[in-house]
Amino acid sequence: MVEPVELDTPLTAAIDLDRVRADTPGCLDRVFLDSAGSSLPPRPVLDEVVGHLRREAEIGGYLAAAERAEDLEDGYRVLAELLGCAPSEIAFTDSATRSWLAALDAVPLGPGDRVLTTEAEYGGNAIPLLRLAAQVGASVEPVPSGPDGLLDVVALRERLDERVKLVSLVHVPTNGGLVNPVAEAAKAAHEVGALVLLDACQSIGQLPVSLTDLGVDIITGTGRKWLRGPRGTGVLAVRRDVLGRLRPRLVDLRGGVWTGPAEFELRPDARVFELWESSVADRLGLIGAARYALALGLPAIEAAVADRAGRLRAGLAEVPGVEVRDLGDRPCGLVSFTVEDTEAEAVKAALADKDISVTVSRRPSTRYDMTRRGLVELVRASPHYFVTPEQIDTAVAAVAAL
Ligand SMILES: Cc1ncc(COP(=O)(O)O)c(C=O)c1O
Repeated sequence: MVEPVELDTPLTAAIDLDRVRADTPGCLDRVFLDSAGSSLPPRPVLDEVVGHLRREAEIGGYLAAAERAEDLEDGYRVLAELLGCAPSEIAFTDSATRSWLAALDAVPLGPGDRVLTTEAEYGGNAIPLLRLAAQVGASVEPVPSGPDGLLDVVALRERLDERVKLVSLVHVPTNGGLVNPVAEAAKAAHEVGALVLLDACQSIGQLPVSLTDLGVDIITGTGRKWLRGPRGTGVLAVRRDVLGRLRPRLVDLRGGVWTGPAEFELRPDARVFELWESSVADRLGLIGAARYALALGLPAIEAAVADRAGRLRAGLAEVPGVEVRDLGDRPCGLVSFTVEDTEAEAVKAALADKDISVTVSRRPSTRYDMTRRGLVELVRASPHYFVTPEQIDTAVAAVAAL
């Protein structure tokens, strides 16, 4: 049986770069700048996932899960600590989008209702939202951003009325380092009684994210990005006092009990959003990833990520023909840029030849924002704390050599 992930000595203050790199074999021979895509899981996460799969092969999935029952239950406490809420407010899912869809599907929306969203809205959220709104006769209205690209809270306030049932916010968009003013927006939305759904897919694991401090009703996130968990994992946090206003529909015998021929009862906590079947190995990996992040400390992670991203932005800004495209007043770990006369895919391929991983973000992923800025595509580089300053300089030199 695999022991739960423990870091022998908790890391405090600054991040011990040698140690986190030793835990991350993939970062040694590669300049890995894609933690906003799918990051490199650290060794303890890998051990959890692979170890549990081995155990399933030895004794079967049910017995293997039973052996880890306490750790699986403790996972709610761990994720609650990460997301500043109670364990009963946490549900595990298999992706950020699955969390978001489950939440959206549970929001009571009818004819004439309004949903306000932001220019940072993610394509995978916009499509189901527009579809649902069309089906029920509700409207979807993007709130304009200010000149700095941040959600304009004054513009939001001007649009709020009692017909607004949902405000959909994105903490950090998929296409750049902007960090939206979530707490102020949530406060304004609550004044008219709207529910506030926060996509924190790009912030969980790189910034402190707290359901309580941000004052939102629902948070959705993924495991594989900044948290460094396995693919196919996600999390949903739902404030206890809004559960009663939601109507979860995709409920099976994890979220409910069949109590009589035509009767059933729903769970009174966020787990009403979970389905019975899930990958236990991946769940343990996600819990391990959250423990790892908590042991490092989110403020230390935020500082290290800001340091690497700041160095990258400053270096790229010096390269002729390169334009850094990040918006906002304190950009985080996503660095977006374009290279004059060179397609983003060509930049990505040229960097890949030098073992530098970046990705491309295209207009349909953030259509409101990219259209407003007249952009079709961007190169996105997202360094985590395990990238060295020297590797950042290598990446800048490689872009300069294009
Ligand atoms: C801002 C944002 N929201 C949601 C998602 C969707 O996450 P997932 O693929 O885990 O469903 C992404 C993925 O890139 C994202 O960047």
